[in-house]
Amino acid sequence: MHRNALRRLLHARRLTAPLAALALLAAGTGAVAQTAAAPAAGGKVKVGFMLPYTGTYAALGTAIENGFRMYVQQQGGKLGGRDVEYFKVDDESDPAKAPENATKLIRRDQVDVVVGTVHSGVQMGIVKVAKENNTLLIIPNAGVDEATGPLCGPNIFRSSFSNWQPGYAMGHVLAERGMKKVVTLTWKYAAGEQSVKGFKEAFEAKGGKVVKELSLPFPNVEFQALITEVASLKPDAVFVFFAGGGAVKFVKDWQAAGLKDKIPLYGSGFLTDGTLDAQGAAAQGLETTLHYADGLSNARDKSFRLDYAKTYKLQPDVYAVQGYDAAQLLAAGANAVKGDMTRKPDIIKAMEAAKVDSPRGAFTLSKAHNPVQDFYLRKVDGRENKVSSVAVKALADPARGCRL
Ligand code: BEZ
Repeated sequence: MHRNALRRLLHARRLTAPLAALALLAAGTGAVAQTAAAPAAGGKVKVGFMLPYTGTYAALGTAIENGFRMYVQQQGGKLGGRDVEYFKVDDESDPAKAPENATKLIRRDQVDVVVGTVHSGVQMGIVKVAKENNTLLIIPNAGVDEATGPLCGPNIFRSSFSNWQPGYAMGHVLAERGMKKVVTLTWKYAAGEQSVKGFKEAFEAKGGKVVKELSLPFPNVEFQALITEVASLKPDAVFVFFAGGGAVKFVKDWQAAGLKDKIPLYGSGFLTDGTLDAQGAAAQGLETTLHYADGLSNARDKSFRLDYAKTYKLQPDVYAVQGYDAAQLLAAGANAVKGDMTRKPDIIKAMEAAKVDSPRGAFTLSKAHNPVQDFYLRKVDGRENKVSSVAVKALADPARGCRL
């Protein structure tokens, strides 16, 4: 049957979204739609990675998977005493494909937990499907505020940050420095818009003013016209959100436009995390705020970095840390039930109570299941985002609209 005809039929029959997505999936592959069975009490712990493996966020997805797998390897390849089996979907950072991709992992592969994703727009689709199916979800990056705000739920956890958090930390820093007039520039989707909201909240509460909010569609990297506009506004500083491949291009374009030593550029730490090799001289001296940094002096971070470098022949970044901590969070749940992943309420209770011994510094979860964590001010020095200070200690997302 043609996919559009099938869509109309499904609509007419008012099938629930996951069933509709499953049927569409089957139509696309020629496979027969099957009803999802409940996860088995025995057997392996089934983990579904829904991450970007292509596009501007590809490196972020890989780092998350690396970090997750490394923690499991350190536990002898087991969680809760059971072997771990992995399933993977490339979400392409495409929100339109999110419901179908999440449904593949949940219904076709029958995973016990979805670990995903990076992009806030894709995350909205995953959260919806995870809630409809009551599937455990651990968000290893995407900051979309709604996931631990109005859309929070008992089965939704995050090992990363809310978009509000790093923006808020930088707003606080710039206000303390006496800056008055700031222009913001981001991709026009939840991650950028919500980072700016957090920034504005802290900055304007202390007397600063965001005089202009500029944006361009994700993942567009034609920055030139916007950079020219920023220069014409002559602000005290610029606050930006870009990440991955787009962040590399932006930082280089900023320098090429001759603004590096004219207008101070600040951002949430994604601007320079995992990107410094490619950004080179253009990134030197940039200051950002994030929940991870190079040069933290805790023992956990030292051993994590050593193991990561040995295992992958790469330096870890914030994304690898978030993947590692997603596995630690899941381990807290799986260990509490000796790997019986059907015991969801007990798993959730153990995850809620977990104190995660993270390379970023130990953290606990808020009532809304978002990390309560320190935000560091960092400065690029060579190939490192060196920690300068703690910008805001134990920062909790306000979790507006969450009724957990
Ligand atoms: C996001 O879409 O939430 C996001 C993507 C990359 C880095 C940080 C946040």
